[in-house]
Amino acid sequence: MRAVAGRLASKALVTGRALRWLLRPPSSALHLEWTALVDAQEDERHPASAELFELAIQAASRAKDVDLSTLARGRDDAGRLLNLWPGEHYRFLAAMVAIVQPLLVVEVGTSTGLGALAMASALGPAGRLVTFDIVPWRTLPDNLLCDADFVTIEQRLGDLSDDEVFASNADVLARADLVFVDGPKDGRFEPLLHRRLKETLQPGALVVYDDIRLLTMVELWRSIRDPKFDATSLGHWTGTGLVRFESPSR
Ligand SMILES: C[S@@+](CC[C@H](N)C(=O)[O-])C[C@H]1O[C@@H](n2cnc3c(N)ncnc32)[C@H](O)[C@@H]1O
Repeated sequence: MRAVAGRLASKALVTGRALRWLLRPPSSALHLEWTALVDAQEDERHPASAELFELAIQAASRAKDVDLSTLARGRDDAGRLLNLWPGEHYRFLAAMVAIVQPLLVVEVGTSTGLGALAMASALGPAGRLVTFDIVPWRTLPDNLLCDADFVTIEQRLGDLSDDEVFASNADVLARADLVFVDGPKDGRFEPLLHRRLKETLQPGALVVYDDIRLLTMVELWRSIRDPKFDATSLGHWTGTGLVRFESPSR
């Protein structure tokens, strides 16, 4: 019995590998993701989207001169990611913060701290950044943050898809000028968070959605009716979407 199960498992493994190999587009990329090409439709044609187009162009122009090397703290892997732009989004995010000058940035998804450090590096003297995760930054082996960063940065632990967690953090979200959403992209969390953000954020808040080209994010991106601009070519290769939240009711 055990031998049969073992043979079946190894057959499934080989079939899975063969399928992945067959479906893999011809490319030498280290990291591949499936995406969908979706035709341009009216959802991209909000009259107020032109302002986001301008902001993206200004941020891209500024990002050319942004150098985030010092944030890498001597780590080559982090330095490469932080400065690989366009493609990675960190210089673009820092440039955007430098232009918008938000008093409060909220990030959803801290991970190793690259996004938080990039955005915090461009804040004005009164600017603060609150970053949410379900995992404490200290516990990640390749974490880049250190205690000294927590003058401008605060990490809050909790799952914002949980009603109680969201409610207990709604005050900080309601004050945010810029929200960077970079969570699990599991097809459930971001649509739920988007609905909650619509009820909570102040009108005029700028929301940057990471990874809008991932299959789990395509539908959410298409469904957004506020002014929006797909800035993927100027940001992250997996997709960068800018949204200007209009009013809580829309
Ligand atoms: C792609 S990483 C974030 C990368 C980070 N923003 C950066 O720029 O370096 C996604 C993060 O989302 C976190 N995450 C997963 N589920 C979450 C949830 N429900 N609430 C908040 N964060 C979550 C993961 O622990 C992970 O650290």
